[in-house]
Amino acid sequence: RVQRRNRPCRFDIDQFTPSFMSIFESLVPSDEEISKQKQLLTALSKLINKEWPNAKLFLYGSCANSFGFSNSDIDLCLSIDYKEMSKVDIILKLADILHAGNLQNIQALTRARVPIVKLMDPNTGLSCDICVNNLLAVVNTKLLRDYSQIDKRLRQLAFIVKHWAKSRCVNETYRGTLSSYAYVIMCIHLLQLRGILPCLQEMDPTYYVTVDNNTCAYFDQVDRLNSYGARNKETVSKLLWTFFHYWAYQHDYTKDVISIRTGRIISKHMKDWTRRVGNDRHLICIEDPFETSHDLGRVVDKRSIWTLREEFERAANILQYDPNPSVTLFEPY
Ligand code: CTP
Ligand code: MG
Repeated sequence: RVQRRNRPCRFDIDQFTPSFMSIFESLVPSDEEISKQKQLLTALSKLINKEWPNAKLFLYGSCANSFGFSNSDIDLCLSIDYKEMSKVDIILKLADILHAGNLQNIQALTRARVPIVKLMDPNTGLSCDICVNNLLAVVNTKLLRDYSQIDKRLRQLAFIVKHWAKSRCVNETYRGTLSSYAYVIMCIHLLQLRGILPCLQEMDPTYYVTVDNNTCAYFDQVDRLNSYGARNKETVSKLLWTFFHYWAYQHDYTKDVISIRTGRIISKHMKDWTRRVGNDRHLICIEDPFETSHDLGRVVDKRSIWTLREEFERAANILQYDPNPSVTLFEPY
């Protein structure tokens, strides 16, 4: 493999910004869709609270972190403190409650790694998955949303990266490629290195919660940071070029871990992520901001790492040479 590490960016990259922006605009959910999601959350909360008055339903994932496309499924998390019931009991009981409330296509997936109930709401036409007591996901959803409020280029970049990953079939964790959550973290990390985003977890915290023995604390008054990145004038096309060049030619896969918790690259050695432990191969290392022992790249195996790296190189080369990158980048795999 030839490593071309410091290729200068083509001089005319910015001419593609309008076409990337119109792709971004076409993926953003409408206000109507967002209000339907809220409507469903309210209806389901009412139904569930009749049976469990102290339970609370939270939106998480793409419909709440601001990185969701239109027509995506809704992720909900039920927070409930019933010690006499196991998670599976709760899931089964929840499925009964939903049946009684006239929701459709209800499936209780009790044996999945994260047990969920799936359903479709005939009133809004929306489908959703409900998990139980996965509160770290609710907190990391808030972190992502807070970052997206600091500089609008994060949301634009992450939408385009997610759209590329879906078009190229490298957003499939069950086949060894990365989750949408991991891609958004990769975008946040890049913007931290470019001085466009701060590192919220390194600032004096204004938000604290403890979830399953993890203390989550960070500065969340993000409306005070909305000119943070203003000195950097890079366009979304330039950032996209930088993103793919980084992952194609600059990231050191043998030594480096990206960490938005610290806003820096840290070493695999320091985290003891240098060798395979169980199923965690650590071939691409992306630290979870709160569960720091959790490598979001652990799903990647010795075959899919090459699929991913070839796709990063393909994207980098398209952005460098292709006359029509905003089309070619998303050509179906
Ligand atoms: N999540 C997590 N740890 C992971 C993967 C996901 O905590 N390893 C949580 C995050 O809160 C994330 C949510 O699950 O926001 C949903 O993950 P994912 O489906 O990857 O992202 P979405 O934003 O829902 O993207 P998509 O639009 O592809 O559905
Ligand atoms: Mg999702």
